[in-house]
Amino acid sequence: MTTRINRRMVLTRRPVWTAKTDDFTVEQIPVQTPGPGEVLVRVDWIAFDPAMRGWMSEGPSYAPPVPLGEVMRAHAVGEVVAGEVADCPVGTVVSGNFGWQTHVIARPSRSAVGLLAHVHDERLGVPLAHKVPEDVPPTAALGVLGTTGLTAYFGMLELGQPRPGDVVLVSGAAGATGSVAGQLARMAGARTIGIAGGPEKSRWLTEVAGFDHVVDYKNEDVRGRVAEIAPGGVDLFYDNVGGSVLEGGIANIAQRGTVVLCGGISSGYSDEATPVGPRNLSTITVRSCVMKGFIVTDFAARFAEATARLAGWVRDGRLVWAEDVQTGDVSLAVTTMNRLFDGNNLGKQLLRLEHGDG
Ligand SMILES: NC(=O)c1ccc[n+]([C@@H]2O[C@H](COP(=O)([O-])OP(=O)(O)OC[C@H]3O[C@@H](n4cnc5c(N)ncnc54)[C@H](OP(=O)(O)O)[C@@H]3O)[C@@H](O)[C@H]2O)c1
Repeated sequence: MTTRINRRMVLTRRPVWTAKTDDFTVEQIPVQTPGPGEVLVRVDWIAFDPAMRGWMSEGPSYAPPVPLGEVMRAHAVGEVVAGEVADCPVGTVVSGNFGWQTHVIARPSRSAVGLLAHVHDERLGVPLAHKVPEDVPPTAALGVLGTTGLTAYFGMLELGQPRPGDVVLVSGAAGATGSVAGQLARMAGARTIGIAGGPEKSRWLTEVAGFDHVVDYKNEDVRGRVAEIAPGGVDLFYDNVGGSVLEGGIANIAQRGTVVLCGGISSGYSDEATPVGPRNLSTITVRSCVMKGFIVTDFAARFAEATARLAGWVRDGRLVWAEDVQTGDVSLAVTTMNRLFDGNNLGKQLLRLEHGDG
């Protein structure tokens, strides 16, 4: 049997501003044989999250920095190609915290729920492998039923709590999180306004994802356009962007409105960046509003409940999602991640790994 080689991206220098491919070293090492209770996973799909850029820095974050000399952390989906674990045979599709690499030794999870790949289990040394249910596409476990879907679920439904007739504004609306968040608000009976960059994303949001209105922030003034669409104000603003977009949304917040701070990608999430604004926080005071932040893992105890509901809406077609799939070698991981910050992705950003050796 030929020896399998693991190609892996090891963080060897902390990036300054935008991450670059040469902040990493591509290592090639022989794949180990799985031990008792372990399986060898061939990684087929890597998921990208803006937070990854923060994990490359030393600065404080909700998760510890990736240590220099270690494989970059990432959620991924792959197939079991070796090992002798009875209920996780060769051919099983699994998800887990597998990192930027082509192969990984993992320990099949005893959890009955197969979609909990986002739990940071690296403290266990060997990552857990969760079976992906056979009746959903494997990549769904990384997006609509993975971290971003869960983020949208808890951020929108638990923190935001949209009510029928509310006006709900979502920024980063054509992204993995925003697109699901907006659809959940609409399912709750709200009128939805998405903020996104460019005509292609705007079209997708209204024609496919069912948003009622879109503001193209690259070509329109957010503050003025939201005011035209919702002269009575925005009851709930779900913000993924921060900076001037957050400021434009706050300017339109209704009396007793709610702002959910899900993320601030416009800062670039590098230690060097100085986040901008918003300069109008006093609006929150004078309109008696509430502003809340959260991290999806705050709700880890309820992930099973949320994935079951999300999966139900996916199966009955009420919830749609998009994927932006790049294809090739694991060394494309940095440029693929940077697509999130350049706004080149529509929906969940993924890298499909091409393997030479199976
Ligand atoms: N709180 C949590 O637990 C949690 C969990 C997961 C994700 N998040 C946050 O949720 C947000 C979305 O994450 P995601 O994984 O779903 O990514 P995503 O929305 O699929 O992709 C990022 C999008 O952000 C937009 N963007 C980038 N730079 C921007 C800028 N300067 N101004 C305005 N928009 C910009 C781009 O869309 P346009 O083309 O429209 O600009 C890009 O497509 C991020 O802020 C992320 O950090 C939070």
